[in-house]
Amino acid sequence: MSDDDAPFLPRTATPVTPRPTPSWAKKKPPKSKAAKRAKITARKYLAPRDPQEHARKIAENVMDAWYQNFGGSDIDVPLGAVAALALLRNRPGLADWILNLQPHELPELFKEIYLGCWIKRPDLINRAIRLHDWAWNPNPDTQQLRAVHAVTNRAINTGLLDLTGHDDPYMRAEADVLSPLLTGLRHKSDKKWRGEYHTPACVSDLMAGMVVDKDFAQPNMAIREPAVGSGGMLRSVAQRLRDLGLNPQDYTWYGNDVDSLAAACAAVNAIIWDLGPNCAIGCADSLAPEDDYAKTLTEARDAFKERDQAMDTVTLITATRSAMRLLEKAAA
Ligand SMILES: C[S@@+](CC[C@H](N)C(=O)[O-])C[C@H]1O[C@@H](n2cnc3c(N)ncnc32)[C@H](O)[C@@H]1O
Repeated sequence: MSDDDAPFLPRTATPVTPRPTPSWAKKKPPKSKAAKRAKITARKYLAPRDPQEHARKIAENVMDAWYQNFGGSDIDVPLGAVAALALLRNRPGLADWILNLQPHELPELFKEIYLGCWIKRPDLINRAIRLHDWAWNPNPDTQQLRAVHAVTNRAINTGLLDLTGHDDPYMRAEADVLSPLLTGLRHKSDKKWRGEYHTPACVSDLMAGMVVDKDFAQPNMAIREPAVGSGGMLRSVAQRLRDLGLNPQDYTWYGNDVDSLAAACAAVNAIIWDLGPNCAIGCADSLAPEDDYAKTLTEARDAFKERDQAMDTVTLITATRSAMRLLEKAAA
């Protein structure tokens, strides 16, 4: 029988080695919206033991988050978000609560933090205007909010609250968390022309240790810094006073910087480090003939006056509303 006459028989397939699963088929299916909304909890972050190193790590992570998410060139925004978070006192569940906020809810959180501090220190919060002005924008940019969200999550997940959220001001003042962020976010040439190179904490701590002792630090003494940056020198002196068993609140502090963003960071730091009621932060040229200290004190007095007037108005409105409610009840 020739091959042509042979009955048709299906040919057995030649054995083949199975193909490897393509990488796209290994990917998990995308999460449903409900699964995405599942509660996020803070990551366990193994923070560096050295607080300065920890502050640098936070700054690096925040900068990565900001630029990876196309945050843009407005560096006041990531700085303001981190500064606001650094003003919080840490409590159980706080980190998880913040991590579960949506991008559009964050400006409200930051406004409340700054407003809470403004009631106590209107002068310092007014000085820090560049750090929170953006949060009051009624039409925020959605991309910017996404970047703020990424910055917030990254700062929390790298242990910002563990560094700045202590009840004890000594612990909160172990590092200047805003200094590496401010100098890191600045463009190289901007930094060069401003001369914005902050003294490393180990150097300013050493200087404070050499200069400040119990004979030197007489109560009510004024500690002044004419080119304060984010306040690193003030921090070292405050910590040295605490090491000597003295209270920084018994001294008068004055820091001035010609750059409004640096002065804003110093103002927030003055609150975090608890430098006390006699602390003024100015924004003026220390080399100009005008008296920048007198100008700062006038601005501070005006800020307190404005705060008192606003509080009086709020009290009046609240009292009027309760009186109206009582009248309505009586009439019913
Ligand atoms: C080299 S940094 C030092 C900051 C801080 N004293 C420290 O040791 O970390 C210099 C700072 O001085 C500020 N500055 C420069 N010229 C100034 C001036 N004429 N008046 C006030 N501040 C000035 C800059 O804006 C910058 O923040």
